[in-house]
Amino acid sequence: MRALESDAVLEGIDRYADKHFLHIVNREKARLLERLVKKHKPELALETGTLVGYSAIWIARNLPASGRLVTIEVSKRRADEAVKNIAAAGLSGKVDVVVGDALDVMRKIHGRVDFVFFDVADYLACLEALEKNGCVGKGSIIVANNVKWFWGQLQGYIGHVRDSGKYKSSFHDFGFDGMEVSVRR
Ligand SMILES: C[S@@+](CC[C@H](N)C(=O)[O-])C[C@H]1O[C@@H](n2cnc3c(N)ncnc32)[C@H](O)[C@@H]1O
Repeated sequence: MRALESDAVLEGIDRYADKHFLHIVNREKARLLERLVKKHKPELALETGTLVGYSAIWIARNLPASGRLVTIEVSKRRADEAVKNIAAAGLSGKVDVVVGDALDVMRKIHGRVDFVFFDVADYLACLEALEKNGCVGKGSIIVANNVKWFWGQLQGYIGHVRDSGKYKSSFHDFGFDGMEVSVRR
């Protein structure tokens, strides 16, 4: 497939997501991911919940030349759609779409991870698995989506990133929802 401009691919996914009620990040959240990736220049980024690759494209297209994204999706059908969209955006060389359960995959990762975007699964269990394997080092950025929507369920995670002393953590309020951005001290 010929690589389209990633903007055109993102616009296509926006329309597809509207039509099929897919839960992709909106433009405001995508712009926050973009700003964080541009600022922190991660060499290795991780994402839980690829769906059709929308947030993955936002992250991957802003990585430094040597940067890579590993994005984890439990549904093979969705992962296949994401692979096609990522290829159309010309980003196949920067992104690995892994089919599997996010926590299972997290438990197998070793080595430093610079940027994590949690968009599904048990954020606290995933983060603790990464910490246990020594993947989270000084300056690693952890972004958690939907913390306003799932505020009640995410108290364990919020307590960990805000009160453990390990992270400097801030809430980004988008009105209808919010993201928690935590930087490892
Ligand atoms: C909210 S959507 C992700 C949206 C995507 N990050 C975006 O903004 O473009 C969540 C995705 O996670 C997948 N998923 C659900 N449980 C999962 C798990 N345990 N591990 C990995 N992926 C999972 C779903 O199939 C769905 O595609």
